[in-house]
Amino acid sequence: MKKRVLFVCLGNICRSPSAEAVFNSVIQTQGLEDQIECDSAGTTGYHAGEPADRRMQGHAIQRGYRLTSISRPVNPERDFHDFDYIIGMDDNNVWDLKKMTSKPEEVRKIYKMTDFSSGNQYKLVPDPYYGGEEGFELVLDILEDSCRGLLKKMQE
Ligand code: 4NP
Repeated sequence: MKKRVLFVCLGNICRSPSAEAVFNSVIQTQGLEDQIECDSAGTTGYHAGEPADRRMQGHAIQRGYRLTSISRPVNPERDFHDFDYIIGMDDNNVWDLKKMTSKPEEVRKIYKMTDFSSGNQYKLVPDPYYGGEEGFELVLDILEDSCRGLLKKMQE
């Protein structure tokens, strides 16, 4: 059966749409499209219906990632059922996700993106929204590293 991954951040316009694009690139490179698929969502609906942040899109395209997803909030009723891995970008995302469910089998699906990063270098994917250009590059660095680790974990 196909494994489904949902990436989650606060607004679903910077970090999680990027995670979706980076992981889709990994999936395609490895020819795993028939085995794994992913989506992204926000813990809030503040930016629902909007495309990804223009700055994030600009940094992503320089590395060959097209951010095409449209922001939507997490739908607890469906998403905890439909997805196998629900992955927040920082501790607040993980906390907010855990507040959306108390079913043990659903809580077990919740991870933090950097759980899959190599070494102990990163503890979270920092919110780039109010910072400078380097914040967007750091997001992509951490996501590229963590997506490789996520795939490895899914193939164990
Ligand atoms: P994201 O970034 O959670 O990575 O999509 C943010 C987007 C919007 C806001 C904060 C973070 N905001 O406050 O509107």
